[in-house]
Amino acid sequence: MIQKTPAEIVLIKKACEITRDALVFAKTLIKPGISTLTLDNALEKFIIDCGGSPACKGYEGFPGATCISVNEMVVHGIPSEDIVLEEGDIVSVDIVVAYKGYHGDAARTYAVGSVSEEKQKLMKVTKECFFKGIENIRIGDRLGKLSNAIQTHAEQNGFSVVRELCGHGIGKRMHEAPSVLNYGKPTDGPIITENAVLAIEPMINAGKKEIGMLSDGWGIVTRDGKPSAHYENTVLFTREGLQILTLEETDEYHKW
Ligand code: MF3
Ligand code: CO
Repeated sequence: MIQKTPAEIVLIKKACEITRDALVFAKTLIKPGISTLTLDNALEKFIIDCGGSPACKGYEGFPGATCISVNEMVVHGIPSEDIVLEEGDIVSVDIVVAYKGYHGDAARTYAVGSVSEEKQKLMKVTKECFFKGIENIRIGDRLGKLSNAIQTHAEQNGFSVVRELCGHGIGKRMHEAPSVLNYGKPTDGPIITENAVLAIEPMINAGKKEIGMLSDGWGIVTRDGKPSAHYENTVLFTREGLQILTLEETDEYHKW
C-alpha cells in the first residue's frame, strides 16, 4: 500500500473536506422535480467555489462533474436533464474532488421524499456495511477482514454485494492500489500499512448481485431492476487508529 507523507495527508484532508461539504450541500437540493443535471451543475459550482475541482469530469471521458445514480442504477450515472427525481426514489451521489493534485472520494444515497421500507432498509444496511467493515480494523490486519465484514452484514440482511466494482487506494490519483473488495475471505488481501489512504465503498443490491451496463458505456444497473445503494468514505489509517476523512460533522458515527 502507498504510504502517504504528512504533507500529502494535509492536501488529501482538504480534498476530503470539500467532498464531504459538497455531499451535505447535495442533500439540501434533493427534492422531487430536480433533474440530475441541475444537481450536477450546482455541485460543480460548489466544488469550484471551495477551491477544488470535480475530478470525475473528463475522467476516461466521463461527461459529468459527479456521478448520480437513481434507484436500480448502482453507480456511474451520467447526470441528465431527462432524469428528474420523483418522490419515492433513492439517489446516490458520488463525488471525487481534486485539490492541489490530491483526491478525496465519497458517496451517499439519499431518499427523495418518503421511500418504501425496503429502500429505507437498503440505505441503512449499506451505511452499516461500511461501519461494520472498519470496526476493529487496524494497521497490520488483512484487508480481507474488512471485505468479509461488509459481505457478511449485507447477506445477513438478505441483500447482495456487487462483485465487479470495488473501493481503492486514493491520493495523487483517484484510483490507486489496492482494490478494496466488498466481499471475500478474512485471510485474503494485502496487509494494511501505516498512512495508507483508502476509499471504502460498499455497493449493495436489494435483489440479486448481477449487474449490467447501459448503452451509454457508464451507467451500471442491477439486472433484476431492484434498487441498489452506495455509501463511501475516504479513510486514513494511522498508528493511533482510523480517521474517516469525509464524514459529516453531525453524523451519528462521528465518535469514530
Ligand atoms: N467515484 C468513483 C469511484 O469511487 C469513480 C467515478 S468514475 C468517473 O471509483 F468516471 F466518474 F470518475
Ligand atoms: Co471511489
